[in-house]
Amino acid sequence: MPAPPPAPLLVVVCGLPGAGKSALADALGRALPAPVLSVDPVEAALWRAGVGREQPTGLAAYAVAQELAGRVLALGQAVVADAVNDVHEARAAWADVARRHRARCRFVEVRCPDERLHRRRLETRVRDLDGFPEPSWQAVQRRRAAFADWTGERLVADSRRPLPELVSEVLADLARPSDPARPTGPAGSPPPRS
Ligand SMILES: Nc1ncnc2c1ncn2[C@@H]1O[C@H](COP(=O)(O)OP(=O)(O)OP(=O)(O)O)[C@@H](O)[C@H]1O
Ligand SMILES: [Mg+2]
Repeated sequence: MPAPPPAPLLVVVCGLPGAGKSALADALGRALPAPVLSVDPVEAALWRAGVGREQPTGLAAYAVAQELAGRVLALGQAVVADAVNDVHEARAAWADVARRHRARCRFVEVRCPDERLHRRRLETRVRDLDGFPEPSWQAVQRRRAAFADWTGERLVADSRRPLPELVSEVLADLARPSDPARPTGPAGSPPPRS
């Protein structure tokens, strides 16, 4: 009998604004290859379509990206998600999409531990995002303070390192089987209530 096809793969790239998510997500998308679903361009498109900024467009953009991710996984294909994912609910929703499609789900948190470099990158980058306001460094600090702790398994990618190195590291991580000794719940889900 032919071997069953391998489970499709969802890679969720997370981290603070300017940490380097989109740079890594796009590089992974090219390397795998896989489509990259980035939440910020979806939100910008909603605004351009006339949806008011007072509406919960951030939440809607996650919902759109998660729906599309599910559709790609349903085709048996890999997909990369690119979003800050600073709250447990967002992380759990990605894990749920993967579970529904019997896909493997891997979380990658991108961090830039050099604050000066992080700030310089944030303040000097040019994004192709018509109408999307750039967050200030102060806004990033506020999000850092509110960023939910990780309680599940995830790979940390240090964006001080060159992108090709990070891509190789993530691909190597994706190739390894899940470690049964590590927590198996959705990465970033709230700790169980005692
Ligand atoms: N490993 C890296 N090496 C060199 N430059 C990088 C690296 N990672 C990111 N950068 C650069 O840093 C800047 C910020 O990265 P990026 O736009 O990917 O951040 P982000 O996490 O997607 O932010 P946001 O949440 O606001 O979209 C970009 O100019 C990007 O090219
Ligand atoms: Mg980005």
